[in-house]
Amino acid sequence: GSGDVQVIPVIDSTNQYLMERMSDLHSGDTCVAEYQQAGRGRRGRQWFSPFGANLYMSMYWRLEQGPAAAMGLSLVVGIVIAEALQAAGAEDVRVKWPNDLYLNDRKLAGILVELSGKTGDVAHIVIGAGINLMMRNVDSSVVNQQWISLQEAGITIDRNALTVGLINKMREALAVFETEGLAPFINRWAKLDNFINRPVKLVIGEREIQGIARGIDSRGGLLLEQEGEITGWVGGEISLRPA
Ligand code: BTN
Repeated sequence: GSGDVQVIPVIDSTNQYLMERMSDLHSGDTCVAEYQQAGRGRRGRQWFSPFGANLYMSMYWRLEQGPAAAMGLSLVVGIVIAEALQAAGAEDVRVKWPNDLYLNDRKLAGILVELSGKTGDVAHIVIGAGINLMMRNVDSSVVNQQWISLQEAGITIDRNALTVGLINKMREALAVFETEGLAPFINRWAKLDNFINRPVKLVIGEREIQGIARGIDSRGGLLLEQEGEITGWVGGEISLRPA
């Protein structure tokens, strides 16, 4: 693929950086940083981004299909990251619907999609990923999730090689997604799904829906089985249902 890659040692947020420059960007343009002063997570959370050996990257993509397709795009990026980490030796890495990567039932990486563009228009999308390769000086008053790093799991990965590989594979996969949609990715997701066939709880706003996770549908929705019937759900977050 083609596109620019900017490596910026210290930045507020790689997502923010691309969001501010959207009008000059081309699909596949990427920003990588060493340290983020204002790393962003989903739901207004902050993404703890210490200096050291983690990976913080964002890629711009222009999507003719419009903002509704952004959901699928983020699932594709999750698949690409999980497969790249597995190939680099972290064989137990899994995806968690919709936007996390898990290792040993703990969060290893998160994906944040931000976009501009109205329904029906072309969408300008920035997709950011933060991967815990080696965490230092973790501030537990800031990090409120059960997390893990590859280092903690005893896995060492060449960060530069991983970054280059990810950029190429993301560009490739997003180009496929652009023309073929999620169809080519459904089975790849199922193989990586940390929760497939497990009892889960889906929380959408005030609502709690319990069921058995059965993978994703062609829109990227979570398939939940309840009393023998499978329904696709969009939105919300899942967690394992306590036994
Ligand atoms: C989440 O799980 O809440 C999503 C975390 C996304 C973090 C990455 S790090 C690179 C990019 N820049 C940001 O400010 N956030 C994303």
